[in-house]
Amino acid sequence: LAGCQGGSDDTIVPGTNATFPPFEYTQDGEIVGFDVALAEEVIDRAGYEVGEWVDIDFGSLIPSLNDGDIDLIAAGMTIEPGRKEQIDFSDPYWEASQAVLVRADGGFQPGSVDELADRRVGAQAGTTGEGQIEDLIEAGTITESDYRQYENYTLAVQDLENGNVDAVVIDVPVAQNFTAERSVAVAFEIDTGEQYGLGMRQDDDRIADINDAIAEIREDGTYDDLVAEWHE
Ligand code: ARG
Repeated sequence: LAGCQGGSDDTIVPGTNATFPPFEYTQDGEIVGFDVALAEEVIDRAGYEVGEWVDIDFGSLIPSLNDGDIDLIAAGMTIEPGRKEQIDFSDPYWEASQAVLVRADGGFQPGSVDELADRRVGAQAGTTGEGQIEDLIEAGTITESDYRQYENYTLAVQDLENGNVDAVVIDVPVAQNFTAERSVAVAFEIDTGEQYGLGMRQDDDRIADINDAIAEIREDGTYDDLVAEWHE
């Protein structure tokens, strides 16, 4: 039966990787952020119970969803053809491109991907930022050994500050969030035009109710309130 793997049919267990502020992060041991608030609102409006949040590696989210350990992914996950072969996405709820973060000391200030040549560049494993770096390796701009893969973006930004890597490729809104709190700056953006969606199993019919709820919160102003609360 569709949707009865994770919780019961009326509970939706959400999963995330809470290292992606302001979308999802931990504060005083609690998982919070825009995606968390949005997913809870949408699940509730769709008429389901919100299960206990599961916080795991970004790369484990799709397997865990398909294994039935979670019922919904809310993780700033870009809607991508490769992922769409494995899971369904809700209607888009956010748009973002990629940013190239550097140290704020002004030492290295690239203006384009070509200027990343022979530099050490980092990203979180399994992300679209990593996909940009794979393109750079394929184009011969950097080599495989110039790439530093991190378990999450918090660690990548820490290594950038420490000088262990020269640039980090990361979603724009998350880059901006880090520049406010760490000594890093956005050097330039790569216009990837990505859209985030909530992920669900391909056989889970409840996605129709989730999409209705997304439309509803966009119409009644709740979506704008959530943006104001978490993004400004
Ligand atoms: N939008 C990017 C992607 O889909 C990065 C998402 C990372 N999310 C996270 N919760 N760490 O690959």
